[in-house]
Formats: sequence, C-alpha cells, structure tokens
Amino acid sequence: MSGLIPPSLVILSGAGLSAESGVATFRGADGLWEGHRIEDVATPEAFKRQPELVHRFYNLRRAGLKTVEPNAAHHALVRLEREWPGAFVHITQNVDDLNERAGAMKLLHMHGELGKVRCVWCRVVLPWQDDLETTTPCPECGRTGKLRPDIVWFGEMPYYIDEIMRVLEKADVFLCIGTSGVVYPAAGFARLAADHGCQRLIEVNLESTGISNHFTERRHGPATVEVPKLVDELLADVACGKV
Ligand code: OAD
Repeated sequence: MSGLIPPSLVILSGAGLSAESGVATFRGADGLWEGHRIEDVATPEAFKRQPELVHRFYNLRRAGLKTVEPNAAHHALVRLEREWPGAFVHITQNVDDLNERAGAMKLLHMHGELGKVRCVWCRVVLPWQDDLETTTPCPECGRTGKLRPDIVWFGEMPYYIDEIMRVLEKADVFLCIGTSGVVYPAAGFARLAADHGCQRLIEVNLESTGISNHFTERRHGPATVEVPKLVDELLADVACGKV
C-alpha cells in the first residue's frame, strides 16, 4: 500500500448485520429458508409458477421492515463511512433498508431491495412500500401481472458486479460482517481481494464459517458489539498510518 494514497476499504455485509434489529437470517434454526423452499419463493421459475405465493412471501418481509430499526452495527458503519479517509464501499447482500436509515450513502445492494419493484415488461424500477398483488398495474406501462420485487433471485445475476470487481481489486482492507459465505459470488469476494493484494481481511460473525480461512483476522461475537469496537480500532489505526 502506498503511504500517500489513503487506504481503500470494502465492506461485505450479510443477514447477521440486521439480525439484532429483528430481521430473520436465511439459514440456521429460525432462518427464512427453514420455513420455505428456495425454489418456491426465490427463483424466476417460482414467480412464473406461483406469483401469489412469491408476492405473499415478499409482502410479509416488506411489511416487516416497518417494525424494525437500525442497530448499533449499522450506525457504527455509517460513522466509518463518514470518517474513513480513503475510498469506501459497502456491498450488502441484505435487501432491507436499515443501512440507509442509519445514514449510509456509499452502499451497493447486490441482491436488490425489498423497498423497490421492477416491471418485467417495461423494466421500470420504482420505490414500493405497500403490498404487491398479481393484479397491481405497473404505474409506468399499465400492464398487470408484470411487477415483481426488485430482488435478485437464485439463478439471476447480482447487481453491480463490474463495479464490485473493480473495488475488490483495489481494496486495502476488506471487512465481512454476518454472512455464512455459502452464496456465490459474494462468498468468493474475500479470496478475490486477497488475490489482488489486500493485506487485511477481517471477518465478524457469531461463529466460524466455511470461508473463515480466507481472513487474516476473525472476530467472533454479535455484530452490535464487535462492529462498533472494530470501527473504533480501524479509525485509530488509519489515523496513525497502521492500516
Ligand atoms: P445467512 O442466513 O446464510 O447467514 C447469516 C450469518 O450471520 C451466519 O453466518 C450467522 O452466524 C451470522 N450471524 C447471525 N446473527 C449474527 C449477529 N448478531 N452478529 C454477527 N453475525 C451473525 O445469510 P447471508 O450470508 O446474508 O440471497 O445469506 C446470503 C444470501 O443467501 C442472502 O443474501 C440471500 C440468501 O439466499 C438471496 O436471496 C439472493
């Protein structure tokens, strides 16, 4: 890393970041996928086959967002975003809006957003807070049955991939919070950053994951405890040139 260019920081977050706000994670005992088969609710084929079921699943989750608030980890990451002297990007797999509600600006929703819908006919993407039904007309083209949640489903290409690859290749610090590391391409980001020279890779999780061996530091504990501590450390380290 050059002493003249401030270090660049890339964050990857997953469901563990929002878990303590009350948003269910995907895997594990009470995980979202425990109650549903992925192929029934999170694939383009499921939407063709049973759009009502898919809408019901995402309507419940969209409504659930109104009952949760950002937690100490979301707020700490916004402090990091504001105070980090170099390039900063937060890539999230989460489809909630808790980072934005905490004040995040430099955020890439690689798996889409619950608070948006997309028309598969005219391709318009619109903010959406209410329930979506198969009879809801697209406000842009007027067709019914064409609006879908703006969520990246299994078998679809994640958003912002070119931009994500570019920032990972330049990362000096890579921070990964609350992801099980089983869904690609996100699960491969730590290795990709390391292959391109990233020297400091930090994983925050309740437990070891299948990708823990790609990290130079592992912090085990709840995100609301570990992330604020880590943000203090990183800002202190970068201020005295230790990063
Ligand atoms: P998972 O549910 O697979 O994993 C959540 C991770 O967070 C686990 O490793 C937990 O140990 C950890 N965790 C839980 N609570 C935590 C806490 N309070 N503090 C720190 N860590 C905690 O969720 P993701 O890895 O985000 O994709 O899942 C990745 C993708 O799989 C999702 O974006 C979604 C899903 O299928 C799509 O829908 C396309």
